[in-house]
Amino acid sequence: MENIAIYPGSFDPVTNGHLDIVERGLKIFDKIVVTILHNPAKTTLFNVNERLEMLRMSLENFPNAEADSYSGLLIDYVAQRKATAILRGMRAVSDFEYEFQMALMNRRLNREIQTVFLMTGLRWIFTSSSIIKEAVRFGGDIADMVPPLVERKLKEKFGFGKG
Ligand code: PNS
Repeated sequence: MENIAIYPGSFDPVTNGHLDIVERGLKIFDKIVVTILHNPAKTTLFNVNERLEMLRMSLENFPNAEADSYSGLLIDYVAQRKATAILRGMRAVSDFEYEFQMALMNRRLNREIQTVFLMTGLRWIFTSSSIIKEAVRFGGDIADMVPPLVERKLKEKFGFGKG
C-alpha cells in the first residue's frame, strides 16, 4: 500500500522553504500531495487558481509530489485521499504553539491520522510567504527564496513586473 502524506497550507505563494519540506518528506513517504486549504485567519494575495498553478509548476521536478486544493476540513481531505499522515514544516520555536494546537485538533477529529513535522533546512529558517511578500512589496530582492515563476508572479502583483 502506498504511504501518502498530505502537506497542507496556504501556499500564498509557495517558497523554496516549502519545496525543501517536500524534498525531505519524499525520503519518508511514497507520495506527497501538497494541498492548498483555506486558512480563515489569512487574507491571501493570490487566488486559489493562481496559487495552484505556481504550486504545480514548482513541483514539476518532484515526480512523486502532486498539487491540489480543497475546500473544507483538512482531516476530511486526508481520509478522502487515503493518506496516513499530515506533513508540516517547523522553522523556529515561534511555529510550535500554532502547529501543536492544529495537530492536536486534527488528532481529536481523527485519531488515525498522524501529523509529522520536519525541520526546515537552516537556509530557510527565517523565510515565510508573509515576509517574502512584504519584501517584494517594497522592492526587495527575493530571487533566491522562491522558484523563478513565483518571483515573476510576485513582481507582477506588486507592479514591478513589466519593464
Ligand atoms: O500555511 P498555513 O496558513 O499555516 O496553513 C494552515 C492550514 C491551511 C493548513 C489550516 O488553516 C487548515 O488546515 N485549514 C483547513 C481547515 C481545517 O481543517 N483546520 C484545522 C482544524 S480546525
